[in-house]
Amino acid sequence: MLAKLILASLLLTASLAQAQPSLPQLVKAGPSTQLLVDGRPFLILGGELGNSSSSSTAYMQPIWPKLTAMHLNTVFAPVYWELLEPTEGQFDFKLVDELLADARKYQIKVVLLWFGAWKNSMSCYAPAWVKTNSGRFPRATDAQGRPQEILTPFSPANLEADKKAFVRLMQHLKQTDSRTHTAIMVQVENEIGMLPEARSYDPAAQTAFAQPVPDKLLAHLQREKANLRPEFATQWQRHGAKTQGTWTEVFGPGVATDEIFQAWYYADFTNSLAAAGKAAYPLPMYVNAALNHRPDRLPGQYPSAGPLPHLLDVWEAGAPSIDILAPDYYNPNFRYWSDLFTRNGRPLFTPEIAFEPGDDAKALYAFGHYNCLSFSPFSIESTDKPAQEPIGKVYGLLQEVTPLLTKYQPLGAVRGFMQAKDSAAGHATLGDYRFTVKHDNTLGWTPDAKKPEWPLTGGLLISVAPDEFYVVGTGLVITCEPTAAGKKAGFVSIDEGHFINGAWVPGRRLNGDQDHQGRHIRLELGNYGIQRVKLYTY
Ligand code: DGJ
Repeated sequence: MLAKLILASLLLTASLAQAQPSLPQLVKAGPSTQLLVDGRPFLILGGELGNSSSSSTAYMQPIWPKLTAMHLNTVFAPVYWELLEPTEGQFDFKLVDELLADARKYQIKVVLLWFGAWKNSMSCYAPAWVKTNSGRFPRATDAQGRPQEILTPFSPANLEADKKAFVRLMQHLKQTDSRTHTAIMVQVENEIGMLPEARSYDPAAQTAFAQPVPDKLLAHLQREKANLRPEFATQWQRHGAKTQGTWTEVFGPGVATDEIFQAWYYADFTNSLAAAGKAAYPLPMYVNAALNHRPDRLPGQYPSAGPLPHLLDVWEAGAPSIDILAPDYYNPNFRYWSDLFTRNGRPLFTPEIAFEPGDDAKALYAFGHYNCLSFSPFSIESTDKPAQEPIGKVYGLLQEVTPLLTKYQPLGAVRGFMQAKDSAAGHATLGDYRFTVKHDNTLGWTPDAKKPEWPLTGGLLISVAPDEFYVVGTGLVITCEPTAAGKKAGFVSIDEGHFINGAWVPGRRLNGDQDHQGRHIRLELGNYGIQRVKLYTY
């Protein structure tokens, strides 16, 4: 009898464990970081909604099928503080509940964007009872003391009000979504940054500025001395790498110090929110940065003190509860910014990128080269032709190869490529072969090659054995040579095909004109495909 009871209780525990799979979480896998959703590595093939779309469930209805047509597995959608807590202490979760219910219907996961105290620097989504009571909820001010429509991070009242609402949101998610995990991550605030000065001059800010630099930051500088990003380390070392003192003593006088100071207090505020939110329901959390694209602009001329490349060390020290600091890409220099954000082994997470031609190539490159966790064009619903969107075609392929990618990324067996007209050839050594990757137009024989503009193209290469590879993408031509000296490489076979329910289903064999009689692998411009390649040496 006892044995039967023990067995029954074991079975119950096992079935409960099955019914309640683990929460979404970030884990280290080899050199890369992976997002686990329902226990499996998950690549966010996402899109961010325009700011106002998810404020109306009805407005969202025609959008969902568009997302499905583009093979999105995740949508980034705002939660608006003013609509969640229209009256102080009274919370209305209807919009959030309807958003998640619709997402479940379409089998799409959601990253929730907390439009709380700050949205693109401003406090435009703070509730009316906050906005209209600046005595209780003080504003940031410029150097002349003029108030801005920006809540100051130096006010405990601002923090408490924002935190209370954020925690209620996380508690609500725990109650309503902890079995289904439709909401998989949370962005805390949106593009935090001070304008029109590098820092606030409100009375509380002035008091804080006259204080010593907090020990927590100084200890971080000491501990991480050898790993600080160079542009930040220089600012500290130039003034004697001091281990105590006021902000101007430690970092010197000027706007660079003003920005570091403001960044510390933004990070501290955001960290309080994230820590309290995670205590209620520990989803992975990140913050996003409005990048400064023009080096001639000073902090305050661009939104100062967000999680920018030169302030990553400050944000990491001040906001340990934030898992990821992420760039919003609104300029063509994808590699430049991604390289800056992935320093020190940090994962790349793309929460927003301008929705424009070339996103297809950038997505392939991001997942292949940076092992990135997320890709997400902004205002994704703005297309009228979702089925024809290049990003949707790429997402379709990436969904098919996600199990392969996430298996081989931690083993270092994946490479990504992105080729423009003026790009040098890409190179990779994988398995027993060295690959050279060029734009498809470099073949020179197609009408496209004669056009003045060449579209950005991209792809990725996965090595599943020393002589067996999958190539995924568009507009590339790839040649191979063995790493062994004195040998040449040949193709045993190249097959196009698809993964259907996880199993490889080959289509055409491409061993004639399509691989130029064994000279190269070709992913034609304008076509999106997967090819399985087997090589041999002779
Ligand atoms: C970046 C912001 O984070 C978004 O909310 C939106 O305002 C876009 N800019 C508009 O380009």
